[in-house]
Amino acid sequence: MDAEVYSQVKTSIRRALNIDLENYKEEQMKRRLDSWLVRSRLPTWKEYFARIDADADERARFRNYLTINVTEFFRDPNRWEQVRAEVLPALWKTSAGALKIWSAGCSTGVEAYTLAILMEETAALRRYSILATDLDRGALHKARSRGPYSGDDIRNLSQAQRQQYVTSSAPYFAAESLQKRIQFKEHDLLKDPFNEGFDLIVCRNVVIYFTAASKDVLYQKFSNALRPGGVLFVGGTEIISTPARFGLQSFGISFYKKV
Ligand SMILES: C[S@@+](CC[C@H](N)C(=O)[O-])C[C@H]1O[C@@H](n2cnc3c(N)ncnc32)[C@H](O)[C@@H]1O
Repeated sequence: MDAEVYSQVKTSIRRALNIDLENYKEEQMKRRLDSWLVRSRLPTWKEYFARIDADADERARFRNYLTINVTEFFRDPNRWEQVRAEVLPALWKTSAGALKIWSAGCSTGVEAYTLAILMEETAALRRYSILATDLDRGALHKARSRGPYSGDDIRNLSQAQRQQYVTSSAPYFAAESLQKRIQFKEHDLLKDPFNEGFDLIVCRNVVIYFTAASKDVLYQKFSNALRPGGVLFVGGTEIISTPARFGLQSFGISFYKKV
């Protein structure tokens, strides 16, 4: 895709989906767009945008494809074990009262449900809040509907967790008791203002397609949104180089503490 076509496609995507591709890595995005157009079997982007103007389902599929909302319960189980064994106990020790948690880029909700399960298992009698946000309305609708989730989505849940926290057969739905613990909200990490005073921010597998400049802005905003001693939990491949720039200190793999 040449520069001129990419520029036109970006404009059309901003208009049709309100997603600004300026913040996403160009070469990867171009490759993804090219292969999407081939799959659509339409010869040009002009025709493709005419189709999504007339077809809301296709528009939703395109949005899902661009924002890639792959996810599962307890994605990277070892990291979540560290949250249970180390991160949460340390946060409780230093927290002012109720623990304030944010799942940023929560996709279809299972990351937030994972947090709710962990909190039920470790802190049922203590006060906490879980905010879960994403820019993708379709994903948020599924999150608020508690599913449906596939067998693959729940593969990391233990037998005991399955019995207690999801319905008994496929397609699976998360328990209502978990949903009551979570506030789902539409929010664009690149545009919308952030709340403050979080003890824990979980933002995993979201920034992979952001440019380096957008990541820098985002990490600074996450740091500002954390209370001192609060923790940012990122995806396995999302290493923050020189975290001190943002007032953060690395510990373990995927964890950063606000200094
Ligand atoms: C691959 S999923 C990650 C889901 C979950 N955090 C996990 O690790 O399993 C990436 C999510 O980031 C969301 N996303 C992408 N850009 C975003 C933005 N600018 N603001 C908020 N969410 C965004 C997508 O809609 C998608 O649901």
